[in-house]
Amino acid sequence: LGVYYAMGVQKEERFSKGGFILSAIASAVGLGNIWKFPYITGEHGGAAFFLLFIICLLLVGLPLLLAELAIGRSSRASAASSFTKLGGGGRSWRIAGLLQVLTPFLILCFYVVVVGWTFHYAVLAFSGSLQAGTDFGGVFKQFIGGYMPIVWQAISMMLIGWIVVKGVSGGIERFNKILIPTMAVLLLLLMIRSVTLPGAGEGISFFLKPDFSQLTPESALVALGHAFFSLSLGMGILLTYGAYVDRRQSLGPAALAIGAGDLIYALIAGLIIFPTIFSFGIAPNEGPSLVFIALPAAFSVMPLGTLFGGLFFVLLAIAALTSAVSILEVPVAFAKEQWGWSRTKAVWTIAGISFLCGIPLAVSLGMRPDLGFLGKSLFDWIDFLTSNILLPVSGLIVTIFAGYYWKQAGEAAGLSARWFRIWLFMLRYIIPILMLLVLLHTSGILKL
Ligand code: PFF
Repeated sequence: LGVYYAMGVQKEERFSKGGFILSAIASAVGLGNIWKFPYITGEHGGAAFFLLFIICLLLVGLPLLLAELAIGRSSRASAASSFTKLGGGGRSWRIAGLLQVLTPFLILCFYVVVVGWTFHYAVLAFSGSLQAGTDFGGVFKQFIGGYMPIVWQAISMMLIGWIVVKGVSGGIERFNKILIPTMAVLLLLLMIRSVTLPGAGEGISFFLKPDFSQLTPESALVALGHAFFSLSLGMGILLTYGAYVDRRQSLGPAALAIGAGDLIYALIAGLIIFPTIFSFGIAPNEGPSLVFIALPAAFSVMPLGTLFGGLFFVLLAIAALTSAVSILEVPVAFAKEQWGWSRTKAVWTIAGISFLCGIPLAVSLGMRPDLGFLGKSLFDWIDFLTSNILLPVSGLIVTIFAGYYWKQAGEAAGLSARWFRIWLFMLRYIIPILMLLVLLHTSGILKL
């Protein structure tokens, strides 16, 4: 081994089998599950939307997940060069690859701002500052209007960098092995608290008893877009993680396990949030402010609310942190491959630049409302550009590459002949159309 290193050959970074599945679940379970999923489910009428989400996970999410993992593992390259390495010749596949690194970098810039908010709220909750009768909307506004979001953003970025710098198995996998079970315990504790609240039954039935009359064509596209986001697709993450997966690991069962993990965490998050808000008479369609304004109000009047509120925000912080870890790894893998940087140099350079780029986004929501245009803050613009435009475009690229260009897709995915035919059919004919519809809808061209 000594000779190996002396020759300048770096030991390749790899996940263990279980560590890979846990790390992909850790990436999937994020603010999307605990913050966004409950509020869009609330806005689209509850249980029927949840069913739709499950169908989208199965029909679109899992085939794309498998495609990204298979491309990553076969190319053993960063997300930027996986297409070209597998035979996507020409400039356009190179550009398509670069997009798989640019998009996660942009997401990282604003996602870390929100990671910071969750840490701030965990501290607020535990310190007992979220008392009954507080104007929670005012507290939130005052917080994002000041300097503290930047301080928390810096702390969060350092923590994320500190995990990623330790490497794939020594950092990402090692921390996820601790944090995923921690999240499971917190979720279960919080679920027991919320389903035993008086009036919880109404929230449970809103979430689990379908009323199909509430569904609109728009709900279908929202569910589809969310299934895609929730599995961390189109962000280069699974292309990158795929490159660290052992040759002998079966990707089909792994994809199923990751999808199931994501779904279970979303289900439990719903079972925490809906009973709580119904029990305290809060409307389920509050929108994005649900988690930072409506829930603190509920915790403030609940028995042992300081403890449970604190635990809830710790849960949210861990979920956000582990997703941010996975997205930082994408540009890091790229910089190592492209410029031959060491992991340490790549992590701290990218974390630093992304932190600096995130500052104008953070303050555009508070003290610098002039940083924005056409009625949207800079923060909202970057969120809109990535979530609504770049992610569906990335999804389209992956499905077209795996469905039409890549000749070895079958062997790489390791499916039986029958499943391979179904998978290819979905990638070729169904998913491109659906992704195109999502793109037209989220970009505002298709109005429903
Ligand atoms: N699946 C993640 C979530 O639900 O939050 C999506 C994600 C967003 C992953 C941002 C990573 C990230 F930085």
